[in-house]
Amino acid sequence: MANESAAAARKKLYLETVGCQMNMLDSEIVAAKLRDEGYDLTQDVNAADAVFYNTCSVRQHAEDKTYSALGRIKRLKERNPGVAIGVLGCMAQKDQATILKRAPHVDLVVGPGQIDRIPELLAAAKSGNPPAIAVSKSRRDGTLEVIASSFTVYDPDREPSLRPTPFQAFIRVMMGCDKFCTYCVVPSVRGPEQSREPEAIVAEARMLVDQGVREITLLGQTVNSYQKRSADGRITRLSDILERVQAVPGIERVKFVTNFPNDMSQDLLQAVRDFPKISRSIHVPAQSGCDQILKRMKRMYTASFYEEMLARARETIPGVAISSDFIVGFCGEDEAAFERTMGLVERGRFKNSFIFKYSTRLGTKADAIYADDVPDDVKKRRNNELLALQTRISLEDNQRFVGREVEVLVEGPSRSTARREGWEGVSQLVGRTSCDRITAFAGELELVGRFVRVRVEGASAVTLFGRVETPLASAW
Ligand code: 5AD
Ligand code: SF4
Repeated sequence: MANESAAAARKKLYLETVGCQMNMLDSEIVAAKLRDEGYDLTQDVNAADAVFYNTCSVRQHAEDKTYSALGRIKRLKERNPGVAIGVLGCMAQKDQATILKRAPHVDLVVGPGQIDRIPELLAAAKSGNPPAIAVSKSRRDGTLEVIASSFTVYDPDREPSLRPTPFQAFIRVMMGCDKFCTYCVVPSVRGPEQSREPEAIVAEARMLVDQGVREITLLGQTVNSYQKRSADGRITRLSDILERVQAVPGIERVKFVTNFPNDMSQDLLQAVRDFPKISRSIHVPAQSGCDQILKRMKRMYTASFYEEMLARARETIPGVAISSDFIVGFCGEDEAAFERTMGLVERGRFKNSFIFKYSTRLGTKADAIYADDVPDDVKKRRNNELLALQTRISLEDNQRFVGREVEVLVEGPSRSTARREGWEGVSQLVGRTSCDRITAFAGELELVGRFVRVRVEGASAVTLFGRVETPLASAW
């Protein structure tokens, strides 16, 4: 009975996350903080005592999604005024006032630099006070004052159920960004670049291993700019961090995202080459293949510098897979400029690319000084053309694997391959090769978290399909 009433006294948190992996990690931290305050996660928004949206501002589309969710939740708030509605993340930092104007039923607005304070803010918002707002303040030089108390030690308690799988987790190695690409809202919502203490990163990896984690993804907006100077003046770079994290007993794979082309140093490439537990895949966004556009974007490199960097990475790391991001329809992008991007994708042979239509962001330099002059239908067409080209290349690239045997770390059951002919009634699993190729095959769930050898029998642009040859040694 006592247990039952204790369970009944606990409250429910509905937490929806959009955006990047940083947001997913922030959500784990928020859920853990509120768990300590008596909140358990629920998937049922109607049963929730608190409904939080962890938001993204990188493109207008992400913001629109949040505003529609806030619109839908209004009825719930009318039915149950006791439910606390929270907006967290980048939109909260960027648009506090607009959010409260467009959605007056919101009770708290918390920027990404302030999530440490969520329990206190939720308590304040719950007592019927005006909305609780906590965002980082701008300094005179325009950068943000970000509270980073827990960050400097290690991201504290986490909510493991929010991880991609029980054996995969993120570790933040740095916060913020100093690059100020002209289209990007990140530096103004996440603040200046701050690298974490190496010891804190390694301690967190050990803690995660104790919780069953076998694959770590190191996160930073420009993760390869990581640099930390110790008291004796020694500088620790990302390559040092990778070496130390892959050496933590129990770790089977280490990844790192996202990279900035100019900081793709030789020591980093050599670390990827020399340590087999480091994934042989590098995500390094090019954004455009046209020098004039790159200049307007303030990316600080030329297309030929980027291509030389690609060649250097491939020469150093045999079999490395490289993926990229591109923005089409940036201010001033004419057909010739777009064709240069097509050329870069054709020659670049990326494993895959994420392609985005330029979305002008209030508060960015591009929004202030350039006209968003490419019509939406042109952006759409360029997006489709670039995507079709990349898809053709991804398919050709994947087809090279047909007939070969690949080593796969099994991630879990597959949703999309379940309907493949001849596979009915068999568990469909997916995993990834060291070069980050998604591989689907039939197998039992007990293989999850282990390495298997898969003979590749077919390929689509995104997936290799195969048959298990031999399970390898247990990774558990
Ligand atoms: N419009 C479109 N895409 C953007 N990105 C960042 N800002 C914008 C914007 N304003 C893309 C970049 C980046 C990825 C995470 O999002 O390609 O690498
Ligand atoms: Fe944005 Fe550029 Fe920083 Fe990436 S490097 S987060 S695109 S400002």
